[in-house]
Amino acid sequence: MNRTCLLLLTGFPALFALASSAAESSAAPARLILRADQARQQISRNIYGHFAEHLGRCIYEGIWVGEDSPIPNTRGIRNDVVAALKAIRVPVLRWPGGCFADEYHWKDGIGPRHQRPAMINTHWGGVVENNHFGTHEFMDLCEQLGADPYVCGNVGSGSVQEMMEWVEYMTSDADSPMANLRRKNGRDKPWRLPYFGVGNESWGCGGNMRPEYYADQYRRYNTFVKNYAGNRIYRIACGANAFDFRWTEVLMADVGRRMNGLSLHFYTVPTGNWGRKGSATRFDEPQWHSTMREALKMEDLVRRHGEIMDKADPQKRIGMIVDEWGVWHDVEPGTNPGFLYQQNTLRDALVAGLTLNIFNNHCDRVKMANIAQTINVLQAMVLTDREKMLVTPTYHVFEMYVPHHDAMLVPAELQGPEYELDGQKIPQVSVSASRDKNGRIHVSLCNLSPATPVRLSCDLEGGKVGAMKGRVLTAPEINAHNTFERPEAVKPAPFEDFTPTQKGFETTLPAKSIVVLEL
Ligand code: AHR
Repeated sequence: MNRTCLLLLTGFPALFALASSAAESSAAPARLILRADQARQQISRNIYGHFAEHLGRCIYEGIWVGEDSPIPNTRGIRNDVVAALKAIRVPVLRWPGGCFADEYHWKDGIGPRHQRPAMINTHWGGVVENNHFGTHEFMDLCEQLGADPYVCGNVGSGSVQEMMEWVEYMTSDADSPMANLRRKNGRDKPWRLPYFGVGNESWGCGGNMRPEYYADQYRRYNTFVKNYAGNRIYRIACGANAFDFRWTEVLMADVGRRMNGLSLHFYTVPTGNWGRKGSATRFDEPQWHSTMREALKMEDLVRRHGEIMDKADPQKRIGMIVDEWGVWHDVEPGTNPGFLYQQNTLRDALVAGLTLNIFNNHCDRVKMANIAQTINVLQAMVLTDREKMLVTPTYHVFEMYVPHHDAMLVPAELQGPEYELDGQKIPQVSVSASRDKNGRIHVSLCNLSPATPVRLSCDLEGGKVGAMKGRVLTAPEINAHNTFERPEAVKPAPFEDFTPTQKGFETTLPAKSIVVLEL
């Protein structure tokens, strides 16, 4: 770690320039400039969105236990899980998939539960899906959470009529067939449905389409996604798989303003190799470093897809919707490979922290993101074991970052050391900052080095630092995680290693930590 890098982070357009400069010792402090007088872009709270698919134990067991369960529940939905998710203020929840969305037929999931037909969940473990959790249960969950629903429609194996009727069922207040069917099933008033996705991964599990073909399919299906009863739908088209920039080019050219949002999917695979992803809990420093390296690719992705979008949409009316992201490890030994159940360590928390910083810094284009997935699947917030529940290190990052929800991005310029391993270099520190409606500034800082603390001195432009407080998430081991035996092994603690200065503040970030400071 003998060089410095310059990170320039602004909101419009968000830049993340990285330039090496003359060699300096690792003792050199990082220098941060916060431009509070240039806070002009709002960080949508939807960047802190979530994703819950009919996959493994996410919906069944994780959320839905049924009304007769001994596990305390409200209309079949676990109370402990709802309470935990309310505490991180889940703003929006995407459902029912994922790959599952393109084989889901919504009419199977309405009406008396014992009469609902079962199906096989072919993507995820080939298990029987009894359809007990359907539209009414999902909307109830959203209401209990206070979250906006984001429903993903079936383009891959569903008809235009089916999609049209689903939207009518959910949102029409007319004396119409689908609205009346909803009333018959116990819900008089339509629900508010702000977000609707027209297919999922249509380049893959959603139909293996080419972008030109999908663009036409989108135009056709979307025509019949109607705005009923004053409900205005923000329409989200299926976007690219990671570095498939051509997909974005075609969609921007052939769909354009017919969509409000264009999605992007990117998973961090710690080894960069889908064939051997590696264990969630047993890893060494090279794997830690490669995980951070892979996760930082999100910066490049958001910037490059954003540049393509800028050409067709310089006013940034079309949102980038990163509706699947997170770390994808090997499943926990002994669990169903189709259930994607993985543990969650401090390493995952760092990935969450740096990724959310990237989204914040690009909030002029990134209007929503949905981490995959909420419970018991991939980079989960919550793990359950029958009646037991724990929250993960990633959950704590979402909780610590709540002050960024709907706050104004404070552009940040950071000059700091690099974290180098085996000749590979990444920035050691990741940052984003925002000003809330009460004028408080929150700075979220991640130190990606597993062993080296970093001193940081900050100049605050356009503001004065009075009182400060802080919280930190760290642990002695890089693979620290919460278990049902030790559910609080990793949790935030108060942080006081800072000093207000004439110009701003100074602090020392512990190794492998996420620190959130309030100024
Ligand atoms: O999140 C798991 C799966 O990853 C989703 O179902 C799919 O959209 C993606 O490939």
